Amino acid sequence: MRKKKLILVAFPSLAVVLFIFIIFFSIRLKSPSSTATKSIIILQDTSHLESQFTLLIGILTRPDNYERRHFLRLIYGIQSSPIAKIDVKFVFCKLTKPEQRTYVALEIMRFRDIIILNCTENMNSGKTYAYFSSLPRILPQHYDYVMKADDDVFLRLVPLALSLQPLPRSDMYYGFVIPCPSMNPFVHYMSGMGFILSWDLVQWIAVSDIPANDTFGPEDKLVGKWLDMGKKAMNRFSNKPAMYDYPGTNSRCSHDLIPDTIAVHRLKKWEQWFHVLSFFNVTEELEKSNLYSV
Ligand SMILES: *[C@@H]1O[C@H](CO)[C@@H](O)[C@H](O)[C@H]1NC(C)=O
Ligand SMILES: *[C@@H]1O[C@H](CO)[C@@H](O)[C@H](O)[C@H]1NC(C)=O
Ligand SMILES: *[C@@H]1O[C@H](CO)[C@@H](O)[C@H](O)[C@H]1NC(C)=O
Repeated sequence: MRKKKLILVAFPSLAVVLFIFIIFFSIRLKSPSSTATKSIIILQDTSHLESQFTLLIGILTRPDNYERRHFLRLIYGIQSSPIAKIDVKFVFCKLTKPEQRTYVALEIMRFRDIIILNCTENMNSGKTYAYFSSLPRILPQHYDYVMKADDDVFLRLVPLALSLQPLPRSDMYYGFVIPCPSMNPFVHYMSGMGFILSWDLVQWIAVSDIPANDTFGPEDKLVGKWLDMGKKAMNRFSNKPAMYDYPGTNSRCSHDLIPDTIAVHRLKKWEQWFHVLSFFNVTEELEKSNLYSV
């Protein structure tokens, strides 16, 4: 009887001791120092070490699109991938109005997810060039991949990361190839809805004369042209049918929503967002609580 009780007591405490031992041992493996504060930092850092690659998603938008940004912060704030460290940032050109300086400053103070480029807001006037070419200079660290995305696209980060996992980390150009019916990633370029470049290509854009000399025109088409002219991006990957335009919005670039989706583009209306969020069961994991009855 006593023995049984002892085992019952001992078991959980044994588990706790074992757990502490494992943690202690893994800390010792990572670093010889063992002050309490350092241990906490190291424990947090290991979660990053587990991710296999890093991805920056830059959503190109305009300073005045405050509400769209707040909505997209919800969309991406509830998503994460166990295999990739993904940062989402909003990217726009120089501010032009006094109220923008205040509102955008508030956003930066709260979210730190904004990049303001040295360019002037104007469709097809070099914003994408300013984005990629600035990154190596302005970012505190490099990423394995950098994405340019529109603010009317819904990205699903888990399947996006899974699709990148087996692909090359260099000389890589990924997206939805245009023209719409093309299944050849080399014919001709990746749609501006969302395309990804490996870091070496971002660095190349920052230093090469080819893009610097050729920044006016449809931005997504230009990126394909630069890479062709520079004989770059020997690794190309067009992810169809996982990326597409919202049903009925763009003829052959559109198709019905499918479970294995990575990107749905051209979401301009609230009912389209609602359809997409419902279809992918985005709010299914909402926890039960006495605070709300939904
Ligand atoms: C911004 O761009 C303009 C025009 O290209 C240039 O003259 C200026 O020096 C740039 N400013 C900064 C801070 O880089
Ligand atoms: C830049 O463009 C000009 C005019 O189109 C052209 O003459 C020049 O050769 C180009 N330079 C490079 C490095 O491509
Ligand atoms: C969403 O949930 C429904 C009901 O559980 C399920 O039938 C459907 O396959 C789910 N959709 C996706 C895209 O996972």
